[in-house]
Amino acid sequence: MTNIAIFASGSGSNAENIADYFSENSDIRICLIVSNKADAFVHERAKKLGIPSLTYPKSEFEEGTRVLEILREYGINFIVLAGFLLKIPGSLIEAYPRKIVNIHPALLPKYGGKGMYGEHVHKAVVAAGEKESGITIHYVNEHYDEGQVIFQAKCDVSPTDTPENVAQKVHELEYRHFPEAIEKTILSAQK
Ligand code: GAR
Repeated sequence: MTNIAIFASGSGSNAENIADYFSENSDIRICLIVSNKADAFVHERAKKLGIPSLTYPKSEFEEGTRVLEILREYGINFIVLAGFLLKIPGSLIEAYPRKIVNIHPALLPKYGGKGMYGEHVHKAVVAAGEKESGITIHYVNEHYDEGQVIFQAKCDVSPTDTPENVAQKVHELEYRHFPEAIEKTILSAQK
């Protein structure tokens, strides 16, 4: 049995999509949603989905102990970052080796690193006149957006696209590919 915790800082549309995808799965369950923001919309989604959601301040994530305790309490053995904006502490990475994955809304190694999240990424992509963008799903290590890549998918960016257009295309890729990439990563680790 794989018990997943999803970490999310904002709207949580990916969290909801992932929870829907696994709702009928008896081997992989979304057991917990963790956020660093008490007013994040992901909590509303969690309520609707019947999944417990908790908030911890930045300091608790940096320190790691309390978060690790709660993950153990819930029997969590896999962590998905879906729009989670804080750095994951070394203690969590050590406790969950190759068991934490993140989605980034661009084609890493481009447009990654500290401060590169959500709309900032799409604005930078448009400002640079890129012809394509996409998504990167990767393992999480101590450095922002630098863990081993698991999966990438691309979309076109046209000269008339705004950052909002690009965000929409990228979200579509995320909804289509992220749940399946999570499932494949979990299944291949069990082989
Ligand atoms: C997603 O596009 C995700 O790729 C991005 O935040 C968005 C969250 O949307 N993550 C990052 O930028 C991480 N660096 P959601 O809350 O609706 O799922």
